Amino acid sequence: MSEFDGLVAVVTGGASGIGAAVVRTLRKRGAKVAALDLTEVPAEDGLLGVRADVTDDAAVRAAIEAVSVHFGRIDIVVNNAGIGAQGTVADNDDAEWLRVLDVNLLGMVRVSRAALPHLRRSPAAAIVNTGSVAATAGLPQRALYSASKGAVAALTRAMAADHLHEGIRVNCVHPGTADTPWIGRLLDRADDPAAERAALEARQPHGRLVSAEEIAHAVAYLASPSATSSAGVGLAVDGGMQEL
Ligand code: NAI
Repeated sequence: MSEFDGLVAVVTGGASGIGAAVVRTLRKRGAKVAALDLTEVPAEDGLLGVRADVTDDAAVRAAIEAVSVHFGRIDIVVNNAGIGAQGTVADNDDAEWLRVLDVNLLGMVRVSRAALPHLRRSPAAAIVNTGSVAATAGLPQRALYSASKGAVAALTRAMAADHLHEGIRVNCVHPGTADTPWIGRLLDRADDPAAERAALEARQPHGRLVSAEEIAHAVAYLASPSATSSAGVGLAVDGGMQEL
């Protein structure tokens, strides 16, 4: 019997990069998975694609309802959908701040709020949020993005305190720079993509980008019944960037 047998997970941002790796990993370990994304993921046995925008509360509520009707339960939520932003506080206007916080922070709030009634009925309930090394490291040109992920770290701890007594564990992973389509787009825009990639690799003490699969393993651990004593944790998967 696999560790996620009988459990149902919702993964936001499950169509690409880290989210897609989480979907693959949880399915491989026995979970049924709903990938909630702007982009629809084609359905397969044990996989449901649900198209929804995490900034649309009604759409999120309808998506969570659709998952619970389809699979009959929801045990795990992986709040992973996120968008980037570059610049200092001088560069991004209020509209841009609100746009990014709406996805990166409020998106997690909306999905969690809609899923909580289902999680309360699960014997193995867990929420795992995707933070970032930017939550704690002072990265240049990332004021808005870093603030959004610092808020995710704080939200994770507060939610862990609120919901542990209901049997719902809330944790987060803090990826370093990961080899996903997101970084591909960043490199495509760079004047010298090879030099930019080398700089991103050198920024992490282990000298390379993190793979989406490595992050997915950390998410799966925190989501799994093996992590029953972990709550409010921020697990770094960043080649030592925050620690060394
Ligand atoms: P990605 O761009 O490859 O995938 C993000 C997915 O989220 C996409 O499928 C996109 O459609 C979905 N998404 C975006 N906005 C959405 C919305 N409003 N509603 C529903 N879905 C939406 O990005 P990647 O790299 O997989 O990033 C995933 C998470 O990991 C993000 O939260 C990001 O902040 C975080 N992260 C990524 C790092 C990296 O270096 N790639 C490093 C640290 C954190």
